[in-house]
Amino acid sequence: MYKVALLKGDGIGPEIVSEAVKVLKALESRLDVKFEFREALIGGCAYEKYSKPLPDETIKIAHQSDAVLLGAVGDWKYDDLPRELRPESALLGIRKGLNLFANLRPVVIFDELISSSALKPQIIKGTDIVIVRELTGDVYFGTPKGMEVRLDSEGRGVRYAYNNMIYSEKEIERIAHVAFKTASSRRKKLCSVDKANVLDVSQLWREIMIYVSKQYPDVELTHMYVDNAAMQLIANPLQFDVIATGNIFGDILSDEASMISGSLGLLPSASMSYEGSVALYEPIHGSAPDLKGQNVANPIATILSAAMMMKYSFKNDKAYEIIFNAVKSVLKEGYRTKDIFKDGDKLVSTSRMGDAVCKEIGKN
Ligand code: IPM
Ligand code: MG
Repeated sequence: MYKVALLKGDGIGPEIVSEAVKVLKALESRLDVKFEFREALIGGCAYEKYSKPLPDETIKIAHQSDAVLLGAVGDWKYDDLPRELRPESALLGIRKGLNLFANLRPVVIFDELISSSALKPQIIKGTDIVIVRELTGDVYFGTPKGMEVRLDSEGRGVRYAYNNMIYSEKEIERIAHVAFKTASSRRKKLCSVDKANVLDVSQLWREIMIYVSKQYPDVELTHMYVDNAAMQLIANPLQFDVIATGNIFGDILSDEASMISGSLGLLPSASMSYEGSVALYEPIHGSAPDLKGQNVANPIATILSAAMMMKYSFKNDKAYEIIFNAVKSVLKEGYRTKDIFKDGDKLVSTSRMGDAVCKEIGKN
């Protein structure tokens, strides 16, 4: 019995999580697994009810679960709230609260979707990358931060705003181990992305990466500046196996990398702490308030996040394969949500896409 907390969130969150839940339930009749789901509020919906986006109850339920499946948070209507009350703060809060410092964002291209990508087929075919993004440090959480008025030379008030890009060597070291282990289990190539030509924090990042690399002689470590990495990712994605990078660079590069796969709606992620602690699974995309309630969003990123949950939290590689292959088959049959639809495809809704994946899982 696996206890899974469902944090559906805002916008399209509830719709896409529901499809992932359907898929997990379909697994129950195929494998010897059973799930117990418990819902909790996060983001704007939590703010509406409790006047705060991350209620203590939600953290408690997450802690009591074996894994957390999250949809997305955010809506434009909360844009004017003070930062600590905004839905995004809840996402950062739960990542920090569960100490989820390692965020794995796999980028693969399904052969069936090669023509959906804006990039040329010969450039992207065979892409198989894992971005290991540090998730609880960097300019996202660094202090001091804030906004204040300073006087200029003529005594006039000028507003300044600042954040602090900061990493301790301990934070870098623990994410480095995750990245090296990930690379070691794959094609054994690790590219560390930084901005060491300009930033002190990146200089330390690079130093620690090199230091940790001594413990992983089977992994080849290279370094790349983030601006170059942004270019190389779309110029020649096949050169990458595992990419290790900080919080903000990883945020930006993973959205960029999703364009290789064809849509932001396809990329799952796993956010983890130390072995044995509760992990959180979520699509890399946001809450897409403009698509909310229309049954048009692509649930695949969330369904694949559930697959990652089976693999990483429950060590059930078979369940992972079953879900992954079901998604592949459904794409092969031509089913497409709006974001990946082209003439000649079978356009389906969010729920129909989920149904199709379940049907595949039900076969044999
Ligand atoms: C992501 C998102 C979040 C982030 C936002 C919603 C806070 O963009 O998970 O990539 O910046 O980490
Ligand atoms: Mg992002």
